Amino acid sequence: MHSVTMNDGNKIPQLGYGVFQMTSDEVRACLPRAIEAGYRHIDTANMYLNERAVGEVIAACGVPREELFVTTKFFPQSYPYEKCAEAIDKTLARLGLDYIDLLLFHQPYGEYVDGWRAMEEAVRAGKVHSIGLSNFSAEKVQEVLDVATIKPAVLQVEINPYWNQHELKAELAEHGITFEGWYPLGHGDAGLLNAPVFTELAARYGKTPAQVIMRWHIQEGNVVFPKTLSPAHMDDNLDIFDFELTEDEMARINALPQKAYYHVADEAPEWAMAEVDVDAAQQ
Ligand SMILES: NC(=O)c1ccc[n+]([C@@H]2O[C@H](COP(=O)([O-])OP(=O)(O)OC[C@H]3O[C@@H](n4cnc5c(N)ncnc54)[C@H](OP(=O)(O)O)[C@@H]3O)[C@@H](O)[C@H]2O)c1
Repeated sequence: MHSVTMNDGNKIPQLGYGVFQMTSDEVRACLPRAIEAGYRHIDTANMYLNERAVGEVIAACGVPREELFVTTKFFPQSYPYEKCAEAIDKTLARLGLDYIDLLLFHQPYGEYVDGWRAMEEAVRAGKVHSIGLSNFSAEKVQEVLDVATIKPAVLQVEINPYWNQHELKAELAEHGITFEGWYPLGHGDAGLLNAPVFTELAARYGKTPAQVIMRWHIQEGNVVFPKTLSPAHMDDNLDIFDFELTEDEMARINALPQKAYYHVADEAPEWAMAEVDVDAAQQ
């Protein structure tokens, strides 16, 4: 598996398996097959309400812990400095792990500046190896950088050919932050998957349009973890290392009109600030 070295020196597999909107039963059914197929990087979150099932699969899968890379994410309820440490311990307990490879602040609201200190302490305590942010604008990343003694290693944002984030990447380039892309396949949007440039390139390389998009991500340097319940798609999404898009082909894809699927609001929406008992709410 190709991996990327982050600005803290730790390595992250460039391809992973995301479990957003998967029930615990779906995780128990699909994640073992994904690990068997070769995935070693799992992307979950407190608010996916499936961390306990992810932990059960990890415990049973037979792959040594150090060969797996596990990302999870906090919601704003866990950012306040005095709450963060307990939230990390509860997250570790749900996952059945003694360290988290990458822990992100999931949403750009609440006490993320103050809480960053607790994230850094968790790194020093060995409970978390790398820390990062998700859905933060360049301005909000800068607020964290202003207080950080450990820079965010990762920024996880929407990235796909319709929202390539070249601007945000350029704005933050000097910090060496690794970009992770959610909605890598446009959340399964048929309009993206059937766009003429992808069907044409798929026919040229004997691949599917989704594989062409996955290949574009790899060549863009994005870390991605498409979600799929389908064993065939799990295999397809990994089978992208035997062809390469040319510079012209990359430029054609990068010339597609840009529009995000999802708008991240500046002000905190009510759902982002909700207090949820994550242990009790596992689905
Ligand atoms: N930080 C954040 O705020 C945030 C937000 C959203 C997502 N995420 C993360 O990003 C991950 C991926 O995002 P996502 O699940 O929303 O969207 P996605 O991975 O872009 O799309 C998933 C959809 O694509 C389909 N698909 C997957 N592989 C395919 C293939 N080879 N060919 C055709 N269709 C394919 C899947 O259907 P089938 O099941 O039929 O294959 C599913 O409907 C999440 O699981 C989560 O870990 C993070």
